[in-house]
Amino acid sequence: MKINIAVLPGDGIGPEVTNQAIKVLKAIALEFDHTFLFKEAPVGAIAIDQQNNPLPDQTLDLCKSSDAILFGAIGDPKYDNDPTAKVRPEQGLLKLRKELGLYANIRPVKAYDMLLEKSPLKREIIEGTDISIYRELTGGIYFGKKHLSEDGNTASDLCEYSKYEIERIAHLAFKAARNRKQKVTLVDKANVLETSRLWRKVVTNLAKGYPDVTLDFLFVDNAAMQMILNPNQFDVILTENLFGDVISDEASVIGGSIGLLASASVGNKHAMFEPIHGSYPQATGKDIANPVASILSAAMLLEHFDLHDEANLIKKGVEKSLKLEITTPDLNTSYDNITTSKVGDFIADFISNPNDSNINFNNIHLGQSTII
Ligand code: IPM
Ligand code: MN
Repeated sequence: MKINIAVLPGDGIGPEVTNQAIKVLKAIALEFDHTFLFKEAPVGAIAIDQQNNPLPDQTLDLCKSSDAILFGAIGDPKYDNDPTAKVRPEQGLLKLRKELGLYANIRPVKAYDMLLEKSPLKREIIEGTDISIYRELTGGIYFGKKHLSEDGNTASDLCEYSKYEIERIAHLAFKAARNRKQKVTLVDKANVLETSRLWRKVVTNLAKGYPDVTLDFLFVDNAAMQMILNPNQFDVILTENLFGDVISDEASVIGGSIGLLASASVGNKHAMFEPIHGSYPQATGKDIANPVASILSAAMLLEHFDLHDEANLIKKGVEKSLKLEITTPDLNTSYDNITTSKVGDFIADFISNPNDSNINFNNIHLGQSTII
């Protein structure tokens, strides 16, 4: 299969982790005889520095003409600390999502057996957790009318949703639940917000078309608590843009590191794959950031094109790396010399030699060849 992939490494650690995903995709292409063509373009703070525009037209055009987009990270402290900045890196990502119609953001959250001790949460609480978060991505308060009064003392952000926007992501969530544990939890704030009451009404109606799937509801404040009290109660979580943003960062604690969480943002025409973590400026250029979220995002990209064997091989490689503690410092307690690129090398190497059981532990951790 031939896939044209637009690569948008973005800011901070974005380029370092994205490079590992590309390395892994190249290994897959070689092993399975695919052609993956990569074309890179700037987005975010780096694009502002270069062209005073967080999403230059050429970048958007490249994304529109590609089959898929691999996205790194976005954000820079110089903007975070300046609320008056009119041009901001995040605008690039938001515009990209809107322009490409990427209305559904799918964020899988899994507790890996070998990482149960790495989470600050107790083993017995997180063991077996397997959640798929369906976050609405192109509506709600992120995109509603914004206002700042002349005197700068009053501000507002409008949260708006239409039946159509709710239905299209709800269908995806219910279809996903059919192939999982047949449960959808709608997370909202229907005791306060009119938009949430619309979500409940629309989703309740739509659920009638999926009699095999159970629908339940949780207010977002309670959901935040339930996520760390009993995450095993969740299967598919369906929620609006802002609640999904918050809940998914919280859920990443279950996995042991936010550096593990991948995501797919899909619409009717386009699809983009990105780690859920940010640009982690403190780690930029140090080769210490965890590339697994980016690598697993590449696996989600392959799944999108029904390349399931390929995606599964990447996941196996990731699991092997976690098992052998070939992991970056956010997860690694036993070794301090495992870099971002070494994790990428190991997983790419595993893809080329999946059946090679002669892994030499000493060599791996000495940074020499991974396979004898
Ligand atoms: C995410 C990020 C973005 C969001 C930011 C960078 C705009 O936090 O993808 O979760 O809030 O959606
Ligand atoms: Mn976020």
